[in-house]
Order: sequence, then structure tokens, then C-alpha cells
Amino acid sequence: MARGTFYITTPIYYPSDNLHIGHAYTTVAADALARFKKLTGYDTRFLTGSDEHGQKIERSAKSRGQTPQEYVDKVVAGFKHLWKQLEVDYDDFIRTTEPRHQEVVAAIFQKLYDQGDIYKASYEGRYCTPCEAFWAESRLSGGNCPDCGRPVELLREESYFFRMSKYAGRLLEHIEAHPEFIQPVSRRNEMVSFIKSGLEDLCVSRTTFNWGISVPFDPKHVIYVWVDALTNYISALGYGTGDDSLFKRYWPANVHLMGKDIVRFHSIIWPVILMAAGIELPERVVGHGWLLLESGKMSKSKGNVVDPLVLIDKYGVDAIRYYLLRELPFGSDGYYSEDALVERINKDLANDLGNLVSRSIAMMEKYFQGTVQPPGIHESVDRELIDLALQTPAAVEELMDHMDLAGALSVVWRLVGRANKYVDETAPWRLAKDPAQKGRLATVMYNLAESLRFITVMTAPFMPMLPARVWAQLGIEDRPELAAWESLASWGGLPYGTAVKRGPALFPRIQTAK
Ligand code: MSP
Repeated sequence: MARGTFYITTPIYYPSDNLHIGHAYTTVAADALARFKKLTGYDTRFLTGSDEHGQKIERSAKSRGQTPQEYVDKVVAGFKHLWKQLEVDYDDFIRTTEPRHQEVVAAIFQKLYDQGDIYKASYEGRYCTPCEAFWAESRLSGGNCPDCGRPVELLREESYFFRMSKYAGRLLEHIEAHPEFIQPVSRRNEMVSFIKSGLEDLCVSRTTFNWGISVPFDPKHVIYVWVDALTNYISALGYGTGDDSLFKRYWPANVHLMGKDIVRFHSIIWPVILMAAGIELPERVVGHGWLLLESGKMSKSKGNVVDPLVLIDKYGVDAIRYYLLRELPFGSDGYYSEDALVERINKDLANDLGNLVSRSIAMMEKYFQGTVQPPGIHESVDRELIDLALQTPAAVEELMDHMDLAGALSVVWRLVGRANKYVDETAPWRLAKDPAQKGRLATVMYNLAESLRFITVMTAPFMPMLPARVWAQLGIEDRPELAAWESLASWGGLPYGTAVKRGPALFPRIQTAK
């Protein structure tokens, strides 16, 4: 029986170029959360996709001598390849160029027009093409786009407008009544003051380019790319179509995850569209920090991007995922550097976890011919290890519920550290010298093996390739019930008599210059 449903989404990325490690961060974090929810018994749905319309895409295609469709098909194939290499296990990938999406967007636009929330007016404004955003004169910074700092163009057009202003009061009430709606709290405060400074009606159509979804009743206009894009979260569930069973099952979303750059669109425009359409609002809009380089925020236009495929090739997917998820504290920015990545691999993965596995298994082979023995004599030091192991799953779950992935990993690593300390404290090599200590030695070995099982189950959502490799060494690769979250409710699941077998190093040390 599922504990409930859990629907999590990533932003749908622009195929204006290949994705970099910053995009990988968001998607890998969402993947780890989705895997965690699945593991802990939720009926989970994980959506990602691509945001393929707009002038910028049209221009990118043109500059390469391709049609927009040819161009996006190629770039989006690259997205899917990257997610596969990163072990991202999404349930659905929505493309805004798919008919199943376009139909829903057009229907919502029509509905809002029919009920008078969308109206036509003439408009003159400053437009930032890279950000696809209109800016009021008063919000410009030094005459440039306040988001990206690039020059804006003066545009005058007949456009359709969405009565955002009408919903500002209701939106504020919702934010007040649901403190968890916008996270972290710093983003929430920003959004509240943004709304309080006055919501203007939003220009929701363009006539300056064609690459988009046409306004159904006035096809020389295309629908504003953010209205188009945001709707992916419900079009992918079949909202308003003949088969809306997924929508009924999974909406409202539990988490829309994204970088802080686009929280504003998700916590203002999106909820107002939903309110106007009479659809429930998502539970949480979560904006994480940016992954920065010494040279500033990674961006395609700055040309300072780090390609995740290169890193996966060099260090392996689990190591990259671990680094990303461990390094960025929830909500704040973090710096990417290859040195820090190598240090994490050598310390946390090779030294702490890898060594714990290899020396535990090696000792079991040496002292008990590789067979798991029933524990004999207990001492108080065992209790400390066992208690910590038994408390850790609940602590991880609590941190994951607060989207604190780095915190969850550090709690698991506290157990790794405790188990390593247990080896030092119990000194099995000394026990092995005294035949009278055989029972005590068996206990120590058992507790180590069982700790490895606990640790591995908990790391699985973060490092999906790891479990199979550890299970092979622990001799339980055909016992899925021992990899289940519920099996961590009590100590002693690992059966006596199991045959362990040393395998290759899980995380070989990376040689550094020093
Ligand atoms: N297409 C829109 C999103 C529409 S969602 C309805 C878009 N696409 S994007 O390709 O520009 O991706 C933006 C997202 O990528 C950010 O919100 C964030 O999740 C991720 N990141 C891009 N660069 C990043 C960093 N340097 N660091 C962390 N996240 C980064 O905006």
C-alpha cells in the first residue's frame, strides 16, 4: 500500500544549447528526491522536459541554418542522453512542441479569454530577448535587463494581456496561509515584497516571431513562452483531455524544484494562471541556490560551462551525483571546482565508505571464510553503533522532507564515520589472535556487515549504481527485501550464513598532483 502520492518536477530546460553541470544539479536533486520517495513507499511521479518555443530558439536554429524543429529535436536528444548518463529515472519527459502539450495550453488560453481574464490592448515596452521578458521602465537597471544585465529592445505591439492584478490579493492570502508554499523563506520574502509592490497585467502574446503556440482565436499571435512552459506541469498529466487519470492521481504537485532565477515565474505567474483556471495550486515551489564558478554563474553566454558528460567519463556517475548533492547546502549558492570534487571522492567515497566496505569484507573472508556468523557476545560499544544506525533512517527522511539533501547525506556519513570508529574501537585483528574471543569477533563482523547494509539502502537514491555493487560483495544481490526501506526498522536483517565476497574497490582513489 502506498503511503500517498508524490509528484515532483524540474524546470523544462531551454534547448538553446547543451546543458551544463548547473542544470544537472537541479535534475539530479529532483531524481534523488523522487527515488527517495519511491523507496519510502510513495506512489511517485517525476517529470522533466524541454521548453522549446520562443524567439531565442528560433534565432538559434536560424543561425545554424536549420528549421526550429530540426534544431530542437537534436538538442533535446542530447538532453535525454545526458539524463541517461546521469541515471536520471524520470517517469515522463514533456516537450512543449508535442501536440499533447499544445492542446492544453491553447485550451487554457481560450478559457481565460472567454471568462474575460485575457484581453487585447496595445502595448509598448522594453523586452529582453534572452530572458523572454518584458520590463517596466522603472524596473530596468541602468537601462538594461535587471535579470541578466543585457540590453533590452523597445517593442510596440498589439498584445493580449492577462489580468494578473485581479488575483494579487488572493495570491498574497495563499502565501500567508501556506508558509511552505515558497521555499526557502528568503525567496518567499522576496516574492511577497514583489507582489506587494504591485502586480501589473502580464503581456501574454507576441507577434514578433512565429515559433510558438498560436493564440487559438487570433493565430497571428503566439502565446507567451512562460505561459506555454509553465503549463507543462499539468499538460503532462493529461489535464483537460479525455484521459485525465494522471492529473486526478498526482495533481497538485508536491514539489516544483528549480533554481532561484525562476522562482518568480513559478510563485507568481503560475499560481495566478491556476487560480484563474480554477485549478488547485502546487504544494511547494522550491528554489535552490546556484552552482557558481570562480568566474561567476555558469552560463552558456559567458562560455564558462562545465560539461557533466566529461566529468561522468572521468569520475563515474555516482561520484558526480554525490558531489553535487553533498556540496550545495539547501537554498544557498555553492562553488563548483574540480579540486573539491576530487577531494570529496578521495575522502568521503574512497576513504570513508570504500575502505569501510573493503576492510569489513576482507576481515570476514580472513576470519570466517567469508561467511556471516550469528553474533555472540555483545558489548556496550555495539549499542552505540546499532542505535545510531536505527535512528539514521528517520533522520534522513526528515531532512529529505525539508529538501535538505546535503544534510541527509551528511547524516548517513555520520553513520559511516561511526562504523569506521567501531572498527578502531573493537580492533578485530586483536580479537582474532585469541580463540576465546571468537564469539566477540563474530559479533563485530556481523555489526559491520549489517551497518553496510543500512548505509547502502540509504545512499541508493543518491548513488543509484552503488547498491548492486555492494550487494554483490555482501552476497545478497538476489534479496531485494534486504534493500527495502522497511528492512531498516530493526537490526539484524542480514541472514546468518550469507557468503560475502570481496570485489573491486568501489571508489578508487584519484591521484592528485600533491
Ligand atoms: N525554460 C525555463 C524554465 C521553464 S520551467 C516552466 C528555463 N530554462 S533554463 O534552461 O534556463 O534552465 C533554468 C534552470 O536551470 C534553473 O532554474 C536551474 O534549475 C538550472 N540551472 C541553470 N544554471 C544553474 C546553475 N549555475 N546552478 C544551479 N542551477 C542552474 O529557465
